[in-house]
Amino acid sequence: MYKILEREDLTPTIHRFKVSAPGVAKRAQAGQFVIVRIDEKAERIPLTLADWDDNEGTVTIVFMEVGTSTYRLNSLKAGDEIMNFVGPLGLPTHIENFGTVICVAGGVGTAPVYPIARALRAKGNKVIAVQGARSKDLIFWEDKLRSVSDKLIVTTDDGSYGRKGVVTEPVKEILQSSEKVARVIAVGPSVMMKFTSKTTEPFKVPTIVSLNTIMVDGTGMCGCCRVSVGGVTKFACVDGPDFDGHQVDWDIVAARQRTYLEEEKCSYDQCRAIKAAAKL
Ligand SMILES: Cc1cc2nc3c(=O)[nH]c(=O)nc-3n(C[C@H](O)[C@H](O)[C@H](O)COP(=O)(O)OP(=O)(O)OC[C@H]3O[C@@H](n4cnc5c(N)ncnc54)[C@H](O)[C@@H]3O)c2cc1C
Ligand code: FES
Repeated sequence: MYKILEREDLTPTIHRFKVSAPGVAKRAQAGQFVIVRIDEKAERIPLTLADWDDNEGTVTIVFMEVGTSTYRLNSLKAGDEIMNFVGPLGLPTHIENFGTVICVAGGVGTAPVYPIARALRAKGNKVIAVQGARSKDLIFWEDKLRSVSDKLIVTTDDGSYGRKGVVTEPVKEILQSSEKVARVIAVGPSVMMKFTSKTTEPFKVPTIVSLNTIMVDGTGMCGCCRVSVGGVTKFACVDGPDFDGHQVDWDIVAARQRTYLEEEKCSYDQCRAIKAAAKL
């Protein structure tokens, strides 16, 4: 069992847990994830390592409540235990001294981008971070991201904080400027990663995205995380989750993410109804 040592609500829908998981913390690298299962009846969900401390033996996860499993996870408090916390899984993000790297973080994607930006900076890269969210109340870890970046640009879709608009606009402006960008790394909703890739393609700047496919085992056995990259079938859990954004077939990613939409909605509605009835 894996004990939740700390719990923090970062926004009304985004939450942080610090979990005691010495085995994961020992081998953790930026870009990797864990498969979490709350109890024997729960489904297995992938969550990226947002931070870790090898000395303390702790791992930080940040999750957004979007459905049944994240709802159930959000019902836990400090002191509670999680049954399975398997990892680190997936290939780490490729880190070397590239030069200037733009790190694009969309929504809850800020959490996984933080250790990536930190690792890039430690290798001597100039890191320009672009953090975007729908509105001000969904912005978190701005200071943390700034602390590992040479420059941070914040955007909100509705203009309630930072610059009004979407992340692709500042990314395009930087690429059009005299700044010689060696690489772009984007983590967040698929639509954001798709359009970031479309933005960088004409500039021929290598663009890495972290695909958030549906996963079950996370070890390459079930095939449910399959994606098409450069016309070749890949498993996001073992071949990724990082891939060349210019080579990803985004239509397949979107279609596969929608596979269980109806069942997911039904389950989430039921879950909330049971909770509401219990309160009566
Ligand atoms: C490698 C990897 C790392 C991830 N890291 C994080 C993380 O650090 N923090 C975090 O909050 N989430 C992360 N995710 C996504 C997370 O696993 C899903 O949000 C979670 O499984 C949803 O489970 P649920 O039962 O709560 O919702 P579900 O019932 O499964 O889904 C509810 C709705 O949420 C949306 N949704 C579900 N899964 C995804 C997805 N993978 N991508 C986009 N939209 C989705 C869909 O609209 C869906 O209908 C990651 C996914 C992968 C593959
Ligand atoms: S999650 Fe099963 S093969 Fe990737």
